[in-house]
Amino acid sequence: MLRSRFIGCGGYLPEKILTNDDLAKIVDTTDEWIVERSGIRERHIAAEGELTSDLATAAAMAALENAGVTAADVDLLIVATSTADNTFPATATRVQAKLGMGSGLAFDVQAVCAGFICALNVADNFVKAGQARTVLVIGAETYSRILDWTDRATCVLFGDGAGAVVLRSEEGKGTSSDHGLLATCVHSDGNHYDALYVDGGVSSTQTAGHLRMQGKEVFKHAVGKLAAVASEAAAAADLTMDDIDWLVPHQANRRIMDATARKLGIAMEKLVVTVDRHANTSSASIPLALNEAVRDGRICDGDLVLLEAIGGGLVWGAGVARW
Ligand code: UT7
Repeated sequence: MLRSRFIGCGGYLPEKILTNDDLAKIVDTTDEWIVERSGIRERHIAAEGELTSDLATAAAMAALENAGVTAADVDLLIVATSTADNTFPATATRVQAKLGMGSGLAFDVQAVCAGFICALNVADNFVKAGQARTVLVIGAETYSRILDWTDRATCVLFGDGAGAVVLRSEEGKGTSSDHGLLATCVHSDGNHYDALYVDGGVSSTQTAGHLRMQGKEVFKHAVGKLAAVASEAAAAADLTMDDIDWLVPHQANRRIMDATARKLGIAMEKLVVTVDRHANTSSASIPLALNEAVRDGRICDGDLVLLEAIGGGLVWGAGVARW
């Protein structure tokens, strides 16, 4: 049985840091409110002219180096993003060119904050079908470009960044002792389209638009759906929460992350947190957090890692992997 083994990871954060105190000079907010309600202290902001594809390429190069492979080895490149460089072509094709990857297939997956989990799910299916051997999965976003910087309820919550992983097809027995992705589960419910959306688009307004969110509404769905899908993924991999070494959630709000871990019965020491320094980087948040925990030695070879995310759509999902 073919499975997707993680062989490398990388991340990139733009140089410019915007603190809560910086934001308090732009909108009517305080460091205290932002930290208490979300756990966020600062976020990175892309420089003028720095595009989602630039962030994605930098993260991809770091991941390729970490994996010890070159772009020429990659036969599938997926970019999860909801802030594409252009309406089309896919940002992934631009990353493909920037990496000098002359063959293979590159396309985007658009599932907002659950984009990275959905992209992993797609990549894993390519691998299982024998249609890809080495896959780059990138989450990259420049949300600073779609924020309404006069809306204090949203502009304080998001940041820019990119994270990437390299997957390689490997034979396994199909058991939970194998390395790599053991299960992914993904869902959506479009009835909640308006809870988190961008009020522009090609077909509707012919403008890029700005992010709009009913924060309380999203919050209401988050913990229950995340805990349910995380349990579903663990069960699909024949594991219980006691087996999990690390929980790497989408980094939207510290309160959601803590409550989900509590509901799952996962100890707080196993929770990987970057939201304080990165804010919500949408599809980039999980691979950025993964990268940090792998590089600082927390996530080690053989560890069981649980990933989960929810966002616009609503779309939500989870994955379980043995690193
Ligand atoms: O990644 C996609 C998924 N997205 C999420 O998971 C986000 C989910 N939602 C949340 O994280 C939270 O709902 C927020 C952090 C967005 C908001 O926290 P909350 O505890 O739900 O606050 P709230 O929206 O109920 O606002 C409470 C008060 C309001 O004032 P009043 O009406 O009580 O007088 C807001 O106007 O806080 C006010 N407020 C602010 N005050 C200072 C809203 N934003 C700010 C702000 N600074 N930045």
